[in-house]
Amino acid sequence: MARMDNKVALVVGGAKGIGLAIAERLSAEGSKVFITSRRSEDVEKAAEGIGNGATGITADASSPQDMVVAVEKVREAHGRIDALVLNAGLSEPSQIAEITPEHFDRHFDVNVRGMVFGLQAALPAMAEGSSVVLVGSIAGNAGYPGYGTYGATKAAVRAYARAWTAELAPKGIRVNVVAPGPTDTEMMASVAEDTRAAIVAPIPMGRMARPSEVAAAALFLLSDDASYIAGAELCVDGGLQQV
Ligand SMILES: NC(=O)c1ccc[n+]([C@@H]2O[C@H](COP(=O)([O-])OP(=O)(O)OC[C@H]3O[C@@H](n4cnc5c(N)ncnc54)[C@H](OP(=O)(O)O)[C@@H]3O)[C@@H](O)[C@H]2O)c1
Repeated sequence: MARMDNKVALVVGGAKGIGLAIAERLSAEGSKVFITSRRSEDVEKAAEGIGNGATGITADASSPQDMVVAVEKVREAHGRIDALVLNAGLSEPSQIAEITPEHFDRHFDVNVRGMVFGLQAALPAMAEGSSVVLVGSIAGNAGYPGYGTYGATKAAVRAYARAWTAELAPKGIRVNVVAPGPTDTEMMASVAEDTRAAIVAPIPMGRMARPSEVAAAALFLLSDDASYIAGAELCVDGGLQQV
C-alpha cells in the first residue's frame, strides 16, 4: 500500500517548481491530486503530465474567492481534502531604500494573505486526520540583503503555523512548514551565474536543492508517518542554517 492511498490532496500553486514536484510525489504515492495555477493552459498541461487522473483548477492563489471555488471543485469530486499544500509564493529583491508599497503588497498578498484565506477556504473540507503543509523559506529565519520583504512574509508563515497548530491540533488537523533553502526552480532561473555561485558557496552540501527533495519532506509531513509532528518547520537546506 502506498503512503497516500485513498487520500485527496490539493496543491495550491502546483503547476510548476516545488508545487509541481509535491503534486507529482503525492500522485505517485496514491493521492487523488488537484493543482491550481493562474494560467489554465499551464495547469491543464501540468495535470496531464502528473497523470493518474490529476485535475487542474485555474485559480489565483492570492484571491480568497478563487480559493473558495477551487475547494468547492475538490469537494464536488471527493467531498473532502486530506492533504492541503499552500505553496504559491513570489520573491523579488528590493532593499529598504527602494521598497515600494506595490512590492510590499504583492509579496504579502500572495505569500501571506493567500495562505491565510487558502486555509480558511479549505478548512470546512478538512476532517480529523488531515494535514496541511505551508511552504515557507529559510529566508524567514535570517537576514539576506534585498530579501527583507520576502523574509518577513516567510516569518509570518512560520508564525501562523504555530497559531494554527494551537487552534487545529485539538481537532486532529496537523499544520507544518517545509522551509526550503535555495532550490533549482524558475524562481532561481533569473539569478545571474556569479550570484548563483555566491548563493551556493556557504551551503555545506555544495549545491541547491532539487524540487523533488523538497517534495519528499512535504510528503513526509503530510503522511501518517508524521502523525505526531505538528507546528514544526522542516528545513530542506543542505545544512545551510543548521551548522
Ligand atoms: N526556489 C527557491 O529557492 C525557494 C526557496 C525557499 C522557498 N521557496 C518557496 O517555494 C514556493 C514555490 O517556489 P518555486 O521556487 O517553486 O517558484 P516558482 O516555480 O516560481 O513557482 C511559484 C508558484 O507560486 C505561484 N505564484 C507566483 N506568483 C504568484 C502571484 N502573483 N499570484 C498567485 N500565485 C503566484 C505560482 O503560480 P502560477 O502557476 O499561478 O504562476 C507558482 O505555483 C514559494 O512559496 C517560494 O517562496 C522557494
